[in-house]
Amino acid sequence: MPRHEAYRVYSIRAPPQVVLGCGAVERVGGLAKLFGERALVVTGRGAVESKRVDRVLKPLEEAGVQVEVYGEVEPEPDMSLAERVAEHARRLAESRGLDVVVGFGGGSSLDMAKIASIAPLNRDPVRSYVGVDKVPRKGLPLILIPTTAGSGSEVSRVAVVVSEEDEVKVGVVSDNVVADVAIVDPELTVTMNPRLTASTGVDALSHAIEAYMSLGANSYTDPLALEAVSLISWGLRRAYADGEDLEARAAMSEAALLAGLAFSNAGNCAGHAAAYAFAVKYRVPHGISCGIALPYIMKFNSLAVPERLADIAVAMGVEVSGLSVREAAQLAVAEVYDLLLDLNLPTTLEDVGVPEEDIMSLASNMLKSRRMLDVNPRKVGVEEARRIFEAMWHGDVESKL
Ligand SMILES: [Fe+2]
Repeated sequence: MPRHEAYRVYSIRAPPQVVLGCGAVERVGGLAKLFGERALVVTGRGAVESKRVDRVLKPLEEAGVQVEVYGEVEPEPDMSLAERVAEHARRLAESRGLDVVVGFGGGSSLDMAKIASIAPLNRDPVRSYVGVDKVPRKGLPLILIPTTAGSGSEVSRVAVVVSEEDEVKVGVVSDNVVADVAIVDPELTVTMNPRLTASTGVDALSHAIEAYMSLGANSYTDPLALEAVSLISWGLRRAYADGEDLEARAAMSEAALLAGLAFSNAGNCAGHAAAYAFAVKYRVPHGISCGIALPYIMKFNSLAVPERLADIAVAMGVEVSGLSVREAAQLAVAEVYDLLLDLNLPTTLEDVGVPEEDIMSLASNMLKSRRMLDVNPRKVGVEEARRIFEAMWHGDVESKL
């Protein structure tokens, strides 16, 4: 449902230049050369060991760019890894010079590339940049190339880092970590196994739906979010069933990008806040934790924004004619739950090893993610959070929240 938001102030953030399509990665050499001749590629161990990183090294070398690889990014990077990446980039910039940083991989590698790009020009410890607009200076030129279809990091203004002492994830949120160029090549995602396809795809779905429910949603973000929901509803089961289905992979890459633009402007809301509350302690991969939380947060928010949930049902292809708005909203929740089941993803906290007696501490942990709760359309206090986790633990998506 369109709504006129221009009566209040909001900003539309400039996205990076996006180069999208099968084979787009071949362009990295020419694009990097525009910034200079000395590049640092930031990626994960898996990409180096499997030689997948060659997809980016070859065109860079052919363009005459000197490349150094930092290939030690781990999934769900913590603060000590972020500090090591920052130190590495600073040393390299001082010793041989550094013109451009290229991130290649899933959201974790792209987020660490963001850290590498800001570090040489922002010399304080990375932990001091946690929060909103805490990075004083724009970093080195940054090119991000996702090999998954989920995080939206290629266009987002956040680098997520695990804060071990607080057992939550925190964000370095700043326009100064936004990439200059995002190269989105769906062919790079065909190597994802079905489990990773499912979990990263559900992360993208969470971004789209949370951005659509968010109080920060506006007439710029709404079409992006709904189109992402449609593409995911069409493509995710297909990409899961057949990883080589390039049409489905392309739909998912595009969806992750659009959802990334939507949440970068509108903000994720209580779904990510709930996921962050248990993902660190119980080592649940990001997309899986978001998937567990999503139907419950949709159900919880359906009291506040039922029309928005009804729109999501329509975007997912659910037949809603003749139904009331509340009935249609309920079908959106059921449709998301059904998708999780089809993808064989866990749907309860019990499934991922969270003990029932931890529900209260998860509830207080969730309240630490203020940035996301502030834009949730329904207020979340500790009692609401407890009810959400209670339902999430039992897998009771029908319960009153
Ligand atoms: Fe996410």
